[in-house]
Amino acid sequence: MRLIGTGSAIPEKVVTNAMLSEFLDTSDEWIVPRTGIRSRHVITDENVEDLGARACLNALDMAGLKPEDIDYFICSNVVNEYITPSLSCIIAEKIGLACPCIDINCACPGFLYAMDIAETHFLAGKVKNVLIVSAEEPTRMTDWTDRSTCVLFGDGAGAAVFTEGNNLKGIRLHSQPDSSKIWQKRTLMPTPYITKPEESVPLQMRGKEVFKFAVGASTTEVEALLKEIGMSKSDVSYYMVHQANLRIIDAIKKYLEEPDEKFPVNIQDHGNSSSASCAILLDECNRKGMFKPGDILVFSAFGAGLLSAAAVLEW
Ligand code: COA
Repeated sequence: MRLIGTGSAIPEKVVTNAMLSEFLDTSDEWIVPRTGIRSRHVITDENVEDLGARACLNALDMAGLKPEDIDYFICSNVVNEYITPSLSCIIAEKIGLACPCIDINCACPGFLYAMDIAETHFLAGKVKNVLIVSAEEPTRMTDWTDRSTCVLFGDGAGAAVFTEGNNLKGIRLHSQPDSSKIWQKRTLMPTPYITKPEESVPLQMRGKEVFKFAVGASTTEVEALLKEIGMSKSDVSYYMVHQANLRIIDAIKKYLEEPDEKFPVNIQDHGNSSSASCAILLDECNRKGMFKPGDILVFSAFGAGLLSAAAVLEW
């Protein structure tokens, strides 16, 4: 498949580290050196489905396609207000899609897992154009009195349109199932028969362990993927790494022995927007005109599951 359009949409409200320190025992001096985050966009009166719809329309516009040209629509999302219908159906209704719609919940690497599903449909000859959106509101998952999690996240949506082509050079998915490192639970409706204890728990994270998983999974998958497709690091133009923590990105950079210029970052303005992170970064870089034909983009993302993925896309 080949990428022909990108789009993104982010909430208007910008919350700086200084604003957080008004109600939390935290500071810019603590957050910046440990995470690289200076501010994040936070949903106020927006709906995540509207951000997703705007990102999709921007991507379709760039691709020069109409909603009726799309054969398959994949939405990556961890949580939103609807249990049913799926977020893909809600966004599809808003933008006038009439194709199969599916949601996936693969946490932060969701954009890459969606790319893998799309490529499989292209290889099966079932589709001509696929639209992917990652629409996320992780700020609604954390406990805003827990300084160790709520400072890390921001909301937003990123979208991409793929058409037939041979530009996805390779993709690798990896799992290390473990629900003790990042997890959140919510209770379902009560029934007269429920006897087990149930509770709603905001996002919990073992930060240091997740950090280690992220760096290990990213570097292993990127090196294995490049080897698998016969490319070397010198072929790579840019590493589009999930924007979870600048120190994670720095550790990956150091391990791969690659220069700063190959690692675009926007974490300082967005925080971690889960699966929307890679998609928003892609759109921002694309709209700045950073990529030229033939450039090799290596994507790497990791998160809850634990899941990770890497992909190589030729521009
Ligand atoms: N402001 C001020 N102090 C904070 C704080 C905050 N926002 N968050 C935590 N602290 C405190 C802790 O309470 C702890 O205090 P204590 O020693 O008195 O108990 C101290 O800072 C050190 O906490 P620690 O957890 O050891 O810090 P760390 O260096 O591991 O950094 C993270 C914490 C969360 C920034 C880091 O572990 C991380 O980024 N992990 C990866 C998380 C991630 O990216 N997850 C998503 C992946 S998809």
